[in-house]
Amino acid sequence: MLPRVRPRRLRSNAAMRRAVAETHVNPSQLVLPIFVREGISEPAPIASMPGVVQHTLDSVRRAVTDAAESGVGGVMLFGVPEVRDAIGSGATDPHGILNQATRIVHHEVGDALVVQTDLCLDEFTDHGHCGVLDPDGRVDNDATLERYRDMALVQAGHGSQLLGLSGMMDGQVASVREALDDAGFLDTAILAYSAKYASAYYGPFREAVASTLQGDRRSYQLDPGNRREGVREAMIDIEEGADIVMVKPAGNYLDVLADVAAASDVPVWAYQVSGEYAMIEAAAANGWIDRQRAIHESVIGIRRAGADAVLTYWAVELADWITEGVVA
Ligand code: PBG
Repeated sequence: MLPRVRPRRLRSNAAMRRAVAETHVNPSQLVLPIFVREGISEPAPIASMPGVVQHTLDSVRRAVTDAAESGVGGVMLFGVPEVRDAIGSGATDPHGILNQATRIVHHEVGDALVVQTDLCLDEFTDHGHCGVLDPDGRVDNDATLERYRDMALVQAGHGSQLLGLSGMMDGQVASVREALDDAGFLDTAILAYSAKYASAYYGPFREAVASTLQGDRRSYQLDPGNRREGVREAMIDIEEGADIVMVKPAGNYLDVLADVAAASDVPVWAYQVSGEYAMIEAAAANGWIDRQRAIHESVIGIRRAGADAVLTYWAVELADWITEGVVA
């Protein structure tokens, strides 16, 4: 007997496939992470992230103008300071690299893009942890919250519109929200890295921010095997006032992303991290994979699982491909 049901009909030509496509990505749903480094005069390449550089305070202007022209939704700024100390003083110094960069980027593209900043101490501490340490060398949750509150006020004051709380401290969303509200920053929004896993895929990022991490982050980031706990963290953050919740990394955590998307009543974003970038770039450089198709497929997969927007180092390039119609 011949098949009565023929799903292939809807795949028979490009026009039909386009008409039934379930998942799309728009440039506005992409966010470009950007590194700005103190004390360099030329942009510096990051060996493990081919195509990505550490910007100077000057070259970042051009980078964000290009990002705005490509129509991406926003930029997420990371600072790479020259000097680090135990409490990450550079994070709250108004002249610190991240805060200076934020002011510049806000003036350059603040009307066109959502200017976002990483709110975490790891780039600024000499031990490389996301918080301050207690006398026993453990990350002190509640003392860290005080630092995050101060960071939030400085970042908001310099023009960040969306604070990326990536430190995984308990109570960080409620604490930062209260500090912002008390200071009158009522419109400064919070992007909570809610389900952030202790991942090997942050490897190249460590080079990008010249991290000096001693030990690991397993006492505050999630165990990669824990699915329910990722959803729980997102629910807690929404309860505490998060405007957007995030799952990170993205590609290996699509089940968590789908669960969070189903349970959340705020937008859900995902971060396609440095290691996800490096793997595709490395395979493509060897001629083992079709670079453009692999990049597009990786981001479509993240969207399909439930991400409303995606932080990706390919944001501008992918946005241009979408605009040119070479990918859908
Ligand atoms: C913390 C932070 C990290 C990343 C983004 N924010 C590093 C970490 O938690 O170890 C990693 C992003 C990436 O790998 O692309 N400031």
